[in-house]
Amino acid sequence: MIPRDTINQILETARIEDVVSEFVTLKKRGSNLIGVCPFHKEKTPSFNVNPARNIFKCFGCGKAGDSVRFIMEHEHYSFQEALRYLAKKYGIKIEEREQTPEELAAQNERERMFNINSFAQNYFSNTMMTTDEGQSVGLAYFHERGFRDAIINKFQLGYCPNSGSAFTEFAIKNGYDKDLLTKVGLTGSYENRLYDRYQGRVIFPIHNLTGKVIGFGGRILTSEKTKAKYVNSPESEIYNKSQTLYGIFFARNEISRLDNCILVEGYADVLSMHQAGIENVVASSGTSLTTEQIRMISRYTKNITMLYDGDAAGIHAALRGTNMILEEGMNVRIVVLPPEDDPDSFVQNNPIEVVTKYLADNAKDFIGFKTNLLLKDAKNDPIKRATVIKDIVETIAVIPDPIYRATYIKECSRTLEMAEQTLTNEVNKILRAKYRKQLGLDPSQNQVPSQDSSLSAQRLSYQSQPQADNQDTTPIGFFQEQELVKLLLTHGSEILEIEGKDDNDNDVIYNVTVASLIIDDLKNDGLLFRDETHKKIFDAFDHGLDTGKLPVAQDFTSNEDQDVAVLAANLLSTQYKLDDWQRHRIVVKTEDDVLKKTVLTSILRFKDMVIEDRRSSITKELMETTDPDDQLILLKKKKKLDEIRTRINRDLGIVITK
Ligand code: CTP
Ligand code: MN
Repeated sequence: MIPRDTINQILETARIEDVVSEFVTLKKRGSNLIGVCPFHKEKTPSFNVNPARNIFKCFGCGKAGDSVRFIMEHEHYSFQEALRYLAKKYGIKIEEREQTPEELAAQNERERMFNINSFAQNYFSNTMMTTDEGQSVGLAYFHERGFRDAIINKFQLGYCPNSGSAFTEFAIKNGYDKDLLTKVGLTGSYENRLYDRYQGRVIFPIHNLTGKVIGFGGRILTSEKTKAKYVNSPESEIYNKSQTLYGIFFARNEISRLDNCILVEGYADVLSMHQAGIENVVASSGTSLTTEQIRMISRYTKNITMLYDGDAAGIHAALRGTNMILEEGMNVRIVVLPPEDDPDSFVQNNPIEVVTKYLADNAKDFIGFKTNLLLKDAKNDPIKRATVIKDIVETIAVIPDPIYRATYIKECSRTLEMAEQTLTNEVNKILRAKYRKQLGLDPSQNQVPSQDSSLSAQRLSYQSQPQADNQDTTPIGFFQEQELVKLLLTHGSEILEIEGKDDNDNDVIYNVTVASLIIDDLKNDGLLFRDETHKKIFDAFDHGLDTGKLPVAQDFTSNEDQDVAVLAANLLSTQYKLDDWQRHRIVVKTEDDVLKKTVLTSILRFKDMVIEDRRSSITKELMETTDPDDQLILLKKKKKLDEIRTRINRDLGIVITK
């Protein structure tokens, strides 16, 4: 664990231009530096480094962030790994938080588990390559299945002798602890006697991202139905099946280079594909894909091609888990193999050109694939058709990018023979419900806010912001409106990660554009801008969200409407000042984080102003009316507004401190 102080020290010390220039040649351009983006293919440099703000941004692919983010993206490191890299670079000593004896023991145990696995892997490989039994049984099996020695060695395949406890005894003789051997699942015990769990099986070691062996799969060689086909490592401190992808260590560079990850089901599929020279391949090991696995892939690419057996089971397996992938903002395509094949047999039985051509010709976009498949099942049954439509609409709604959503809606309206607008409405209905939930803006989901001190502190700091709109000439809420307009103009099509809940109340991350976050939220609450020019810009983005094509800054700066053009130019040329979060001692990890906070608080501040406005007109009416019934109604309204206001301020507090 890196202590918070050290993290801050690293963040403060790391100079973005230093960090980047180790990987990218930078040239001075004004106060900034530019270079060729390392994250996408380009000829003219659009990768920008801003030393003053200590951030980078590529205007070509949109990647942006601070030093830590750069290292994470470039080296495919986790947050912690990137921090360690930077600490090393700048000679910052990481004083690890003192570990409790339990933590220390656990850490040592992890090390020892890795060691045991490495020892076992060596033993299994040597046994297969050098002993008679290993060669005539294990190696012969792999050869028969068409695996050559190069791939066998690369994936460190092996064989465990078929003699009760030969491995376990050898390991114990070499000083390995029997409890730990049992814990990692190499050894089993039965009536106090130890035995090799993988005896008589060929061994597939499972590697983590850095190439360490974290587990094993052992395949039986016979077709005995009484024994399990595979014996696998149990879950442990070092092996978590749902967070593991078979082959990721060998595939990650190719996945990144080709910007695509091919997903198959089994060990044999991965091996055959790699052997054929297709190396951007990993396996989910027979289970349906988990979010953790998807996130692992998304560190290298946003594109997944799922390769499945042509039989019914294969096709249905392909449908499982795909909503989850779409939800992560990934693009999913599906290739269905000929009915008699699985990926393993298909690559082994066809020349590589045939395989690559088949993959290229048969990769179907997932939603189209699913729609056609379900429609075929439903035939002309209207009830079934309705279910299909609902299912597809739900699938489209999980796609974070509005442009993709719009494209899919268009396509599905053709295949489903339904009006595009009807589908759009259905999708929007689902989205709205989600956004409300994410933002906690639905009154029915909010409890009475507690007035704790940190909240009132937030409220104070918020109120202390200069409020120029107190001047008589400026309408109430004008500056809050303008703030939102500015965000639309400067960041409208940027995508934010918003934490929320799904229908089952699980934590999920939604990707939404700044524009849809602002516009959908305000429309949801029936709030409109009052200033005519603001309204025009709002409407242009609203229209853009509907059509799937968001306007860009230039659409406004060169707008024929002079009011719009002048306002846009002004807002775009004034140095955009994101809120000074640091001053409030709020730790901001990335530029995205700053943007997110800014967008969310700007929305809430705008709402707060609107409420304030309504509240003061009610106060005015209250003073003017003498009818007790009217007064009662007005008082109730006022109370309601006060409640909403408290809620908004509570939300502001949450957004700011989160
Ligand atoms: N699997 C498993 N345990 C099982 C069955 C399957 O862990 N009892 C996992 C393995 O990762 C396997 C994958 O699911 O690779 C796919 O299963 P299957 O197609 O049965 O295995 P293959 O490895 O393709 O086997 P085969 O040698 O028959 O091609
Ligand atoms: Mn198979």
